[in-house]
Amino acid sequence: MDRAVPAHRTLSITRGRHPVSPRRPIDDATPSLHVIGAHRHSLREVDARFPLGRLTVVTGVSGSGKSTLAREVLLANLAGAVTARRERRAPSWDGARGITGADLVGRVLEVDQTPIGKTPRSCPATYIGFWDAIRRLFAETSEARMRGYAPARFSFNTGDGRCPACEGAGVQRVEMSFLPDVKVPCESCRGLRFNPATLSVTFKERSIGDVLQMNVEQAVEYFAAHPSIRAPLELLESVGLGYLTLGQPSPTLSGGEAQRIKLVTELAKARVGDVRDAARRPGRGGADAHTVYVLDEPTVGLHMADVEKLIRVLHRLVDAGNTVVVIEHNLDVWAEADWIIDLGPEGGDGGGRIVAQAPPEVVALDSRSHTGRILGEFLRERSN
Ligand SMILES: Nc1ncnc2c1ncn2[C@@H]1O[C@H](COP(=O)(O)OP(=O)(O)OP(=O)(O)O)[C@@H](O)[C@H]1O
Ligand SMILES: [Mg+2]
Ligand SMILES: [Zn+2]
Repeated sequence: MDRAVPAHRTLSITRGRHPVSPRRPIDDATPSLHVIGAHRHSLREVDARFPLGRLTVVTGVSGSGKSTLAREVLLANLAGAVTARRERRAPSWDGARGITGADLVGRVLEVDQTPIGKTPRSCPATYIGFWDAIRRLFAETSEARMRGYAPARFSFNTGDGRCPACEGAGVQRVEMSFLPDVKVPCESCRGLRFNPATLSVTFKERSIGDVLQMNVEQAVEYFAAHPSIRAPLELLESVGLGYLTLGQPSPTLSGGEAQRIKLVTELAKARVGDVRDAARRPGRGGADAHTVYVLDEPTVGLHMADVEKLIRVLHRLVDAGNTVVVIEHNLDVWAEADWIIDLGPEGGDGGGRIVAQAPPEVVALDSRSHTGRILGEFLRERSN
């Protein structure tokens, strides 16, 4: 079941050919999660298999039970099982008779398009977590050392380094009677968020305030010699976010941008290669614990070009040794699956059954499956 994954496999999607990444093999020996007797809502005592370290796509017409199976049964119960293990209790199951293999999972996470953070003080640099390394870098310059500036000095959230007029926000709120407040760039720091003394410290001729105004693409070049900062920036670039400004307030990011930033944050944590065999030695707990990601229709609202970028991140998460479960109506995503669980055959009372669960090529041969028929045609047209 082990497959050597080159650390930097480049995926290229040309004119929608599929799959962009060779399908990961699944046989009887592939470690898997088995949901047994799922019966929540319309589900009819179904047994579903989710192979670990693979990309699973849950398909089916509207109302067939996809969200019920993937979120209310799989996600919720796995989360419960992880907590139970931490508290040294036996897991209890809800909406299913049980899940075998749950002990192989260290972490479970839903990734959606909801905004990251409510505070405008969060931004891509702080959320992904490379901002601390940038502050340390500035504190190491000879100018900072001469002045006795520690990394804390380069915080725009607290402390002596930030602009006192806007308290590091870079903008000031103007109160308008009877109208919502208006935000204008801070006159004191001209939006740079720090006070003049802090801004006088430069690294490669730029101040820490300038860095927050750089976009990802510029920052990749600027931090070229600093792998710990460059690596997450390159990830952002690789998912098409090279245009984002490092200091853009998180609440202003679009849903699709927020979703990809969440995925990049996860990728930045993953240690490719190291966890490649996670399915063989899973459930170790700790930071590199095997993670199951669940995404419910992540392509909603995305342009086709952005769907391709999303697919690329999902593959990278799997290549890093994680398990990804995606509910999707999008054919381009179906065609990338290692494993498809097709629910139905219809919605509501006519659904709740598993019509097929197999790799896409096998589901495509199943004439009872609506998904199979459509997928078969699509794969014949677009297969690599
Ligand atoms: N809280 C609930 N109480 C009762 N029935 C529910 C509940 N949630 C969902 N259902 C029913 O269970 C069935 C499956 O719903 P589910 O949300 O899993 O469908 P789905 O496949 O995700 O559909 P869609 O593609 O539209 O999101 C539907 O008939 C739905 O009406
Ligand atoms: Mg749903
Ligand atoms: Zn200011």
